[in-house]
Amino acid sequence: MEQICKITGMSMAQQKKWPLFHSLLTDKLVINRAEISTDKLSKEIMQFCSRQETTDEIQERKDAIISHLKKRFNRKFNGSKLTAFGSSESGLGLKNGDIDLCLEFKGEKPKKVLTKIARMLREDGMEDVTLIAHAKVPIVKFTDSRTKIPIDISINNSLAIYNTSLLKLYNDCDVRVRPFVLAIKNWALHRGICNAAYGTFSSYAWTLIALQFLQTSNPPVLPNIQQGDKRILREVEGTIYDLTMNENPADLIKSDNSDNIGDLIIDFFDQFSNNWPWDENVISIRSGKMISRKEKNWEEDKPKLIDALVDENKLRLGKHSLPVEDPFDHLHDLSRVLRTEGVMDIREEFLRAYRVLNEGGSWSEVVKTKFPELVNDSPKTDLFEDLREIPKQEVIDKLEILQDQLNEVESKIKVRKSERNNAIEMSKAIRKNAELKNEENKLGNSLKPRRDKIEKVKKERDSVNNNYIPVHWIEDEMMKVFYRLTEDVDQMSAPSLKKEKELFSWFFELQSMHQHSKKTRELHNQFIKLLDEQKDTLDELDLVKKSSNELFGNYENFDDLAHKLLLELNSIHNEKRTLRREIGRLEAWLRICDRKKRDRKKSNYRKQNNRNISKTRSSVNIEEVKSRASSGESISLSDLGALLNSGGFSSIQNVGKEKSERKKKKKMNNNFTASRGKRGRSKKNY
Ligand code: CTP
Ligand code: MG
Repeated sequence: MEQICKITGMSMAQQKKWPLFHSLLTDKLVINRAEISTDKLSKEIMQFCSRQETTDEIQERKDAIISHLKKRFNRKFNGSKLTAFGSSESGLGLKNGDIDLCLEFKGEKPKKVLTKIARMLREDGMEDVTLIAHAKVPIVKFTDSRTKIPIDISINNSLAIYNTSLLKLYNDCDVRVRPFVLAIKNWALHRGICNAAYGTFSSYAWTLIALQFLQTSNPPVLPNIQQGDKRILREVEGTIYDLTMNENPADLIKSDNSDNIGDLIIDFFDQFSNNWPWDENVISIRSGKMISRKEKNWEEDKPKLIDALVDENKLRLGKHSLPVEDPFDHLHDLSRVLRTEGVMDIREEFLRAYRVLNEGGSWSEVVKTKFPELVNDSPKTDLFEDLREIPKQEVIDKLEILQDQLNEVESKIKVRKSERNNAIEMSKAIRKNAELKNEENKLGNSLKPRRDKIEKVKKERDSVNNNYIPVHWIEDEMMKVFYRLTEDVDQMSAPSLKKEKELFSWFFELQSMHQHSKKTRELHNQFIKLLDEQKDTLDELDLVKKSSNELFGNYENFDDLAHKLLLELNSIHNEKRTLRREIGRLEAWLRICDRKKRDRKKSNYRKQNNRNISKTRSSVNIEEVKSRASSGESISLSDLGALLNSGGFSSIQNVGKEKSERKKKKKMNNNFTASRGKRGRSKKNY
């Protein structure tokens, strides 16, 4: 049976996890405030703080990243504005802090913009690009692949730009603000209680807690910068906020507090260990002091800390557990991210830090890293840091391996591309085949009814066609009979009545024959037309059958395959980019090594040469050299050295006077005189 504490209800495991806090709850904790020399502590913190200065290299890289993103976003989101905020702007940032960027853009919904940004950054080869869409302020997080600097981008997060200005003003108020805030942030970071995503306070919340402490120390180190009669109200994203910030905060109070950082730090941990402020109060820097929960209407909701911890059914902590009010958004309690275990950790860490300090522990002991995986590596600015200690041959071997990998990746890309093209072709062919099959069926289906019709027409035609006489013959005969019957006749040649009757009956017979014959002709024409149609259809069918092939299957399968291959191609392209970048880096390093070697050789050669010159100088016959120089004969480098050493050319006086006279004339003709150049002349000089 697990041992449960009768007072707190905490299990043995929980008591072990938070021993100091458990002792405090059971009234067993004793931490006596020792007489510590705070000078040592101050010195250590100031030294740590001086190491947090951003180096020029990191700053240059940060600026380059921001200006690169500005250009990219300007092109993609017309009329957008990218602004840096957060600790890198307020000056309250640790060396390995992130870059916080806000893109102000109204053209599209923020989440859509962030999705596009995430895609863009992945294309640019940035690392760990993550879209956090469901946070209070949605962001895209990523890491600069070269320096490993983490970067957050949010959209229209204008209030954060204002609160950054406020923090900057506080930072400018007193030289102790920066070291104090950085020390608290560093402690929280290394002790695992500075991560809103893991249920502890954000870095921003710790900054506000630290500033409130400096406002409420006795006497206060910091004033309340948001005080003043002239209030500045401004609308931000549809809500009116009071953004009053006193522009000359240093005039608000001249701090009488002369504590050093060590004193302030010990007081800070003393207060949070022995005088827990959150039982009754809310941290509120816009008030310059803590305000009561009651006044703020932020009473602690159930379940409270220990209840939430010991009752497995109560997973979430109630609202306003350790309330910290945002300086501008007064409805925003920064403790809303806290979870039960997070608050337990925070309480334990305050007690631990206070105990370590009172036991004479150093600051580095206080901030000893608890979870190394949660602490960022320092940004890398030396591109060749990892190569400097490696022998050159090892770099060459590595380069060869990478080249092989690149070749492999390139051939993978080739194969995937052709596979994808095939899949697209197959999908197209199947689609076309399906259309052709459709057409074939349609044509095939039309044959049978037409054949029936042909048979029918043929039958009909043949039935009326038994004694078929061509229509034109009947028509001629009818004309003849008609003339005979209607022509003017004289009495003598008039046909007999019998003959006339015969003619009439023949005419009627012809008329009836004409009807039949016409019908037959019509049926025959119809028959021929149907036969033609049938033939055309058969030809067409032949053609369709020839162009369709034996392709069966579902074109959607090939579409899916093409899409899958495209995704694979994207990731292989990324791999290729990474390899190329690494190859470029190694090649650059090898070039640097070669240059260094060349430079070394050159300088050795120069040294050697100088030595040789000085050696030969003594062995040169100077008179002979002078004679050769004056007669215009060639002289060696060592001769020249010796000549310069023994008075130079001016020392060659009477030797070969003629030649020197000639040279002088030539020189004068060329007008190379020591006069001022044109630019030096002014009108006045003429
Ligand atoms: N911010 C905010 N509300 C929060 C969290 C952050 O308004 N709940 C804003 C603040 O302006 C803060 C900025 O976002 O300065 C960046 O947040 P974060 O990176 O957590 O804090 P930093 O102050 O930049 O600290 P760090 O040095 O750890 O980056
Ligand atoms: Mg930040």
